[in-house]
Amino acid sequence: MIRVENLVKKYGNTVASNSLNCRFEEEKVTVILGGSGSGKSTLLRQITGLERPDSGSVYFDGMDLTAANKKSLYEKRRKMGMLFQGSALFNYLNIFENIAFPLREHTKIAENVIKTIVTMKLEMVGLRGTENLMPSQLSGGMMKRVGLARAIVMDPKVIFYDEPTSGLDPISTGVIDKLIKDLNLKLKITSVVVSHDIESSFRIADKIIILFYGDIIAEGTVDEIKNSDDLRVKQFINGEPEGPIPFTRTDRDYLDELLTES
Ligand SMILES: Nc1ncnc2c1ncn2[C@@H]1O[C@H](COP(=O)(O)OP(=O)(O)OP(=O)(O)O)[C@@H](O)[C@H]1O
Ligand SMILES: [Mg+2]
Repeated sequence: MIRVENLVKKYGNTVASNSLNCRFEEEKVTVILGGSGSGKSTLLRQITGLERPDSGSVYFDGMDLTAANKKSLYEKRRKMGMLFQGSALFNYLNIFENIAFPLREHTKIAENVIKTIVTMKLEMVGLRGTENLMPSQLSGGMMKRVGLARAIVMDPKVIFYDEPTSGLDPISTGVIDKLIKDLNLKLKITSVVVSHDIESSFRIADKIIILFYGDIIAEGTVDEIKNSDDLRVKQFINGEPEGPIPFTRTDRDYLDELLTES
């Protein structure tokens, strides 16, 4: 479904994608895990065609997005649903209008059909009857679910989730995890999830890719990742403060400075 080849993206001296090669299997849930600044969002932006790599290719549905013209890129992007970090709802529109928005933007579907579609999508995320509420009236977990209803309103083949459970309590996290898995299994939607929530990733992933400062340091099933011998992987999944991974890039930069000074 999606294949990334020799993907390179640099920002100044920072290598955010260091010649990445990976694939995202059709109808599976792949989780991209990694610490802050490891290049997760950068990878996601390149896969979704929001940003062009310096070099390398992203094949989506048989087409290299990095070489595509605007029109074909736009067409491929219509097959992608995106749940943005923080839900990105329009706070001046009610729930109905938030979910209907992509349909109004991209299609000429009749009003009564829009109504049916929105009702159906709300039902899927367990929020039937909330059409007239405003986003500010909902909890964080509910807002993510509305964001999810909007992400699937155009019946995408792939959904990209950027940190779908960040900032949520364990119960709301469980609800979102179950929704991701249900959508994947029932609608056969290929799912790509960016996360640093290890427990949640273990619950939903068919495959996990771990990034470390722009490199893929591990790739495999949940069991393979759990049994990895790589010290960096062990440290990351056990959340140990001491070890080869300085917790953020800033920490490492800071340490590098300290070390060169002394
Ligand atoms: N637009 C940009 N301009 C400059 N540097 C950037 C830009 N986007 C990302 N970076 C840098 O690239 C590296 C990877 O960033 P990225 O946002 O992909 O990390 P991340 O894994 O998503 O982190 P987080 O978990 O904090 O969201 C970081 O060092 C970041 O500072
Ligand atoms: Mg990010």
